[in-house]
Amino acid sequence: MHLISTSEIRDRGELDRLFKATDALRNPHISGIDPYYRARGKIMTIVKDEGSTRTRLSFEIAMKRLGGEAVVLELDTSSALKGESLADTMRSISEYSDVIVLRHSQRGAVASLSSLRVPIINAGDGDGEHPTQALTDVYTLQKELGGIDGLNILLAGDLKHSRTIHSLIRLLALYRGVRLVLVSPEDLRLPREYYDFLEEKGVACETETSLSRQLKGESPMAVYMTREQKERANRDCSDYPALGVREMGMLEKDCIVMHPLPRCEELPLALDEDPRCAVWKQVKNGMYVRMALLSNLFNHNCFLT
Ligand code: NCD
Repeated sequence: MHLISTSEIRDRGELDRLFKATDALRNPHISGIDPYYRARGKIMTIVKDEGSTRTRLSFEIAMKRLGGEAVVLELDTSSALKGESLADTMRSISEYSDVIVLRHSQRGAVASLSSLRVPIINAGDGDGEHPTQALTDVYTLQKELGGIDGLNILLAGDLKHSRTIHSLIRLLALYRGVRLVLVSPEDLRLPREYYDFLEEKGVACETETSLSRQLKGESPMAVYMTREQKERANRDCSDYPALGVREMGMLEKDCIVMHPLPRCEELPLALDEDPRCAVWKQVKNGMYVRMALLSNLFNHNCFLT
């Protein structure tokens, strides 16, 4: 019922069904499915204690496009100010809502609410996971590259704290022959548990600290950049991997560049004009994937566990 971690998604079939629903809702003139009735009469409450632009708005607008309603509660204006526990706040919200979307600054905060009787969707929990961004990313890879089996994918940046990467890795392991190149400064390496997971799933991976050194060797099919999570680690960032014009010139002409946004210096705005930049497609896809997720949830299509 909930979506807390991408580890709940056990096979590609689930992803294929979600992406089929995404395409159907995106192209109602072809599918004949009218999105506007899929969440009619349903209320979503989005709860957050961290900044958010795309995740919050894409959920809110997805719900409206499905004919439902969405309200937002900022935890710093709630009774949390009077010392109320997260559990009591969320229990109250569950009495009013048909689905809850929670973005929280603490890893594990969403999992701690799994006894709620209303579906709860993790919209990012500290440096833990961000499953709906990862679903968006896999959908984008599939759309842009035609498939994911056998892809060589480079993930770069703050791999230690990037929750989008943590969720994405678990989904990529569902495909055959994916090879990952993990580029980050030493102190921002992917946490051990994800290396263990990749080993257990037999996913080949390579660890590197320099983006340009890596690109001189072999060009990946997709480069996924992430910002330095300065709110989670205060460090000297002179060694942070960045994709400049020079590095872009080293990529193959059919390689795509992705980023969950927000971005800082690691992906200059000027690169948006390059046809290989898929960042704005990711932004749009995020709304359609969330529409499909919510539509399945309200129409008993059994996507959510
Ligand atoms: C990310 C997040 O909040 O986890 N953005 C997003 O939701 N698309 C990335 C980030 O904060 O760096």
